[in-house]
Amino acid sequence: MATVVLVGVQWGDEGKGKVTDFLAQRADLVVRYQGGNNAGHTVVVNGEEFKLHLIPSGILYPDKLCLIGNGVVIDPAVMINELEGLVRRGIAVDNLRISPRAHLIFPYHCRIDQCEEECRGTGKIGTTCRGIGPAYMDKAARLGIRVADLIEPEEFSTRLAYTLKEKNKLLANVYYRDLFDFKEIEAAYKKYAVALRKYVADVSLIVNQAIEQGKHILFEGAQGTLLDLDHGTYPYVTSSHPIAAAACLGAGVGPKKIDWVTGVAKAYITRVGEGPFPTELTDETGEHLRNRGHEYGTTTGRPRRCGWFDTVVARYAARINGLDYLAITKLDVLSGLENIKLCVAYQHKGEIVKEFPPTLHELSNCKPLYEEFPGWREEISHVRKNGDLPGNARRYLERLAELTGVPIALIGVGPGREEIMVNNPIF
Ligand code: GDP
Ligand code: IMO
Ligand code: MG
Repeated sequence: MATVVLVGVQWGDEGKGKVTDFLAQRADLVVRYQGGNNAGHTVVVNGEEFKLHLIPSGILYPDKLCLIGNGVVIDPAVMINELEGLVRRGIAVDNLRISPRAHLIFPYHCRIDQCEEECRGTGKIGTTCRGIGPAYMDKAARLGIRVADLIEPEEFSTRLAYTLKEKNKLLANVYYRDLFDFKEIEAAYKKYAVALRKYVADVSLIVNQAIEQGKHILFEGAQGTLLDLDHGTYPYVTSSHPIAAAACLGAGVGPKKIDWVTGVAKAYITRVGEGPFPTELTDETGEHLRNRGHEYGTTTGRPRRCGWFDTVVARYAARINGLDYLAITKLDVLSGLENIKLCVAYQHKGEIVKEFPPTLHELSNCKPLYEEFPGWREEISHVRKNGDLPGNARRYLERLAELTGVPIALIGVGPGREEIMVNNPIF
């Protein structure tokens, strides 16, 4: 038996979908525990690309139970659309289970997300405008409506009537926007209830029973450590907790039940949305990484900001998550670069900073200090053994692991399921 939490080390889009799909081969259960359809997890199997937003990336295997924990916020329209899309492509979805404790996203959440962004002006966060922040706000304010309410028609209508009154007041009086019609939302969500009812089950109970039975469980994080509401680059963060501790909270599992934590990081780093980014490259090298790595958002299509791998960030993620292993993805994207840099520390007002700064002000004024490595010309997507990597690629990874203080278990050398090198199979 093993329970493994997979978390993003950076600002999201590290390749968690691909690594989840790979590790899911040996897992019995795959569990999403936070975030919502702000996530975009890509899995490529036999050249066919799947973009998953809410459904766990284990869904492509017919025999894995895929669970959505209480910590996730669910837009039911998006979920139904995603399920239908998978079914059209011949993927069975009956092994999906959704926690009745998960909160729902409503159209007013998406509109409020847009209004808040407009009000922030130049201080905007660059959210995905999927209603994630406003839905978590309602959860904390005890205004939220849960999956459990959705499947109880009377409870649902009562809660919606109250919440919508509050939201319409906000939209009319603060944002000067059109109001939402109660009957319209009620009718749409009653249809969603019919479609989703069969998937609703006690996820915490299922996961804990599976642990008792000695099954392999993979917890699939969304977003990344630096987007964490508490530990990320606040306020340029998401409204949930993408870190490993959230797997316990968002799935209903005790912390002693987690065996391993694996951090997924790109061999460089990217960020979508606003906020400080010490190793960002705004020159042609950044452009090269974006083009070669196809760095455009899976959810919004926005170009991702690209930069050199930052070991200050990775060490911080190792501390916050208690990382046992690293999965380094997209090493192949670095092929063809003359030189590659690794950020080893920052400089701040003449001082060397080795620990990730807790304040945005300090971080914004940090300059990266680099070690430089000679690159390699060879394409490496076919490589499956460490010994077959170009020497310069090996040396780069060895130093990256040394500075981060975490061993590398998996190395991604292409988007496909089989394009991965395994130093340690984790399960
Ligand atoms: P996630 O949100 O962490 O699941 O990552 P995304 O799916 O948003 O972005 C990662 C992108 O990189 C996707 O297009 C993947 O197909 C792709 N990818 C993942 N691993 C590798 C790799 O090792 N090499 C290459 N070239 N692409 C990869
Ligand atoms: P995956 O799971 C990258 C970013 C947004 C924005 C900030 C807040 O694919 O790695 P939100 O809509 O969550 O309120 O936006 O967080 N963001 C992501 N960036 N990958 C993601 O998910 C993200 N989910 C949210 O761009 O900067
Ligand atoms: Mg993504």
